[in-house]
Amino acid sequence: MRLKNKTAIITGATSGIGKATALLFADEGADLVLTGRRIGLGKTVEAECRQRGVRCVFVEADHTKLEDCQRVVDVALKEFNQIDILFNNAGIVTKGTADTTPEDVWRNTFEINVTAVWHMCKLVIPQMKKQGKGVIVNNGSDWSVVAGRDAFPYIMSKGAVGMMTKAMALDYAREGIRVNAVCPGDTLVDRWIEKGYFEGSDSVTVEEAMKESSEYIPMGRFGRPEEIAKTVLFLASDDSTFVTGHLLLVDGGNTAQ
Ligand SMILES: NC(=O)c1ccc[n+]([C@@H]2O[C@H](COP(=O)([O-])OP(=O)(O)OC[C@H]3O[C@@H](n4cnc5c(N)ncnc54)[C@H](OP(=O)(O)O)[C@@H]3O)[C@@H](O)[C@H]2O)c1
Repeated sequence: MRLKNKTAIITGATSGIGKATALLFADEGADLVLTGRRIGLGKTVEAECRQRGVRCVFVEADHTKLEDCQRVVDVALKEFNQIDILFNNAGIVTKGTADTTPEDVWRNTFEINVTAVWHMCKLVIPQMKKQGKGVIVNNGSDWSVVAGRDAFPYIMSKGAVGMMTKAMALDYAREGIRVNAVCPGDTLVDRWIEKGYFEGSDSVTVEEAMKESSEYIPMGRFGRPEEIAKTVLFLASDDSTFVTGHLLLVDGGNTAQ
């Protein structure tokens, strides 16, 4: 119960890494405010967390809207009167190169992957200052520290998340607020299957296609959302009280190559 008596906001908790983190945080005793735009999925995760014996509220929110971010923080304070942890997880993946990326794709990517992260921090930091403590974990990517091909707007946004993490860690280090980033490598989430990422290859089964497409990873497989969640727990809990401004890679060795 490493998060007992703590309140955490997790953005984008309707699926994938956010959902896995919500369930793990509930197992560790945290009261939770979960967000996302898909109400049905959000309510299901809310119920699963409550079954684990914690208080949990799902708030429908589009984090590209500042008023939605404000509403999430208002609910957290009204329900729980404190905010110990913010996991800025909501984000989208976009593709393209510098010359092929349309203006709206660039803007959308930055609105959710960068500006929304800043807005949520801006809104919770006054409360954390008042408490004299707080922890922020941003979801970066291995592309916060190295680049790749054909994902220009996404890589630019995750690079910004890395620098935002370091800048805020320095600004608030003396206020008892720690700011770190978890930087996952390719992690198999439902959305990949829904989007048919493994269809249309020469492989006979989805499993074979997955195996083939993860060959570039030293460990020979994709990450699991639960593995990323455990790292977020480390950064969010008192197991990491002297860690701030750190970008923690969880990538099966990918960036060691
Ligand atoms: N999977 C990977 O390989 C990988 C690797 C590195 C980093 N990451 C990062 O991990 C984070 C989570 O992604 P995931 O892989 O777990 O995929 P996912 O299942 O698609 O999760 C994305 C989450 O973000 C939420 N979201 C997106 N836009 C939003 C908006 N405008 N307002 C509120 N919520 C929004 C989604 O909720 P709704 O759709 O319900 O709004 C969903 O809960 C992202 O920041 C991603 O960049 C993932």
